[in-house]
Amino acid sequence: MNYRVPRTRKEIFETLIRGLQRLEYRGYDSAGVAIDGNNNEVKERHIQLVKKRGNVKALDEELYKQDSMDLKVEFETHFGIAHTRWATHGVPNAVNSHPQRSDKGNEFVVIHNGIITNYKDLRKFLESKGYEFESETDTETIAKLIKYVFDNRETEDITFSTLVERVIQQLEGAFARGSPLLIGVRSKYKLSTEQIPVLYRTRNIENVKNICKTRMKRLDSSTCLHAVGDKAVEFFFASDASAIIEHTNRVVFLEDDDIAAVADGKLSIHRVKRSASDDPSRAIQTLQMELQQIMKGKCNFSAFMQKEIFEQPESVFNTMRGRVNFETNTVLLGGLKDHLKEIRRCRRLIVIGCGTSYHAAVATRQVLEELTELPVMVELASDFLDRNTPVFRDDVCFFISQSGETADTLLALRYCKDRRALTVGVTNTVGSSISRETDCGVHINAGPEIGVASTKAYTSQFISLVMFGLMMSEDRISLQNRRREIIHGLRSLPELIKEVLSLDEKIHDLALELYTQRSLLVMGRGYNYATCLEGALKIKEITYMHSEGILAGELKHGPLALIDKQMPVIMVIMKDPCFAKCQNALQQVTARQGRPIILCSKDDTESSKFAYKTIELPHTVDCLQGILSVIPLQLLSFHLAVLRGYDVDFPRNLAKSVTVE
Ligand code: F6R
Repeated sequence: MNYRVPRTRKEIFETLIRGLQRLEYRGYDSAGVAIDGNNNEVKERHIQLVKKRGNVKALDEELYKQDSMDLKVEFETHFGIAHTRWATHGVPNAVNSHPQRSDKGNEFVVIHNGIITNYKDLRKFLESKGYEFESETDTETIAKLIKYVFDNRETEDITFSTLVERVIQQLEGAFARGSPLLIGVRSKYKLSTEQIPVLYRTRNIENVKNICKTRMKRLDSSTCLHAVGDKAVEFFFASDASAIIEHTNRVVFLEDDDIAAVADGKLSIHRVKRSASDDPSRAIQTLQMELQQIMKGKCNFSAFMQKEIFEQPESVFNTMRGRVNFETNTVLLGGLKDHLKEIRRCRRLIVIGCGTSYHAAVATRQVLEELTELPVMVELASDFLDRNTPVFRDDVCFFISQSGETADTLLALRYCKDRRALTVGVTNTVGSSISRETDCGVHINAGPEIGVASTKAYTSQFISLVMFGLMMSEDRISLQNRRREIIHGLRSLPELIKEVLSLDEKIHDLALELYTQRSLLVMGRGYNYATCLEGALKIKEITYMHSEGILAGELKHGPLALIDKQMPVIMVIMKDPCFAKCQNALQQVTARQGRPIILCSKDDTESSKFAYKTIELPHTVDCLQGILSVIPLQLLSFHLAVLRGYDVDFPRNLAKSVTVE
């Protein structure tokens, strides 16, 4: 932000803190701000940096504890940047939170959303040149690189634009792979023609555009501008409109590879990759939104759960990003590579979790057995502990947990550690207890999940476990065709998920028929048994209907007694090795006047003949089909809960993170 009216430091802080608070819905583990330190003499500017682990309130309190802060000091032109962090590299603590700095004197400070995939190489290079790193983040590399380029400039009058552009050209990751990247840079220098410090920002909105096609206009990574009066000018840059909507509704949306700079009271935009057709002019648009509406970033979504369901094309992509190489058909999970030899020698794999995380283990058990050629046990953490399950030092135990804090899973982890097994965490939360206490692990990178009912974490856990299986089988000659088939399937998943999400209206209509029912059975087998368990869990936890996931192979051993023409039953029948057996189950259901709603493949004319209703899904490789087939059930549970008048994000009696046994 940049004013041309005098403001006290207190006012600047308050504006930044309010902006951060509006972004808290995204989840965070730490926060920080950087702002002008002294007076308006540019040479004497010294950037003040305050960072804190925890929420924005903790940061706010910390600001007022800083003795060196004169809150009444006034600035005529000034600048501040602030950030809430959700850890991807390094534990959540003050050092790892943003802004990251170039050196102890805070010459350049940087905030950044995105992932720099080549940060290790850059860091090694910069360390070899004597630059000392203090954090474990990829972002610090940007700050140090700016300093390096600045220290090695050929001419004294390098502009800040040139400096930042040179740095950006060295960065790989978020630029190339399609995630938005936001960089705010603040320098204590007055550089060349710029009269005041500038902020740069670049983004790649490919993913955002894709999501828009399926559902809505997301406001992620928007750049916002506001002009007040003739003399006074304010500029706000934000990754989300909710952070600035109280100041202005006039915004400029940046495009891929735009670099925006504020200098001398003006906003200018230029392009990283210049070409003849590049036009850097951007129209000012007016947001037609109420603060209330977008405050939680939900935009057109009425609940976080719904938003998270629709984020899945993006979240599964992020889970695979930088790990699956579709050209070479290889997978590299950085957190496991040093333990691979040990894992390959183990006696068995034990995969442990609770609720949805346990279902991700069930969903991938078969493909893990196939690809690792090891026995795989899947365990509910509480039951595993109740049984005092024998565990040996040549076992490898996986702990699946979105939060990384679930007490049962954590206790099971400690139990396995005591028995000297190798422990592997699969979590969505860097720095969580499970990710810290395991020997190694995989971060699923699904982004913060806020709705109590887990959705996008499930599909990302699923993919993480499949990626592990693929990595384990890399040198098995007999499995190469199968591996290629699965990797090919992974590549098209984001697109296929979008296709499934486009069935939302149809699923809403189905919910209209079902929402007054008391019970709902979900039946299937093989790769899709887990889909049934997970679908039934979603339905019971947010709609409070009775719902059961039934293994179709068990139908005649009891559940068949429940079938009649009133009992709603959903059958998941996919074109996989269990197809013929599922047809048998279908016959048994229809023979008892059951009226099955069938989730089946698009080309399945056989099942649809017996269906009361069908939801047709795109086809993918058998072991990944569960990622597509669970989504209609997530959507169905959501619509049922809304129609029944319940709070989807906060179901009664449940908590997002269950930290008690
Ligand atoms: C269901 C759900 C829960 C969690 C379970 C484990 O929608 O969210 O069943 O999956 O409490 O939580 P995590 O994965 O955080 O260990």
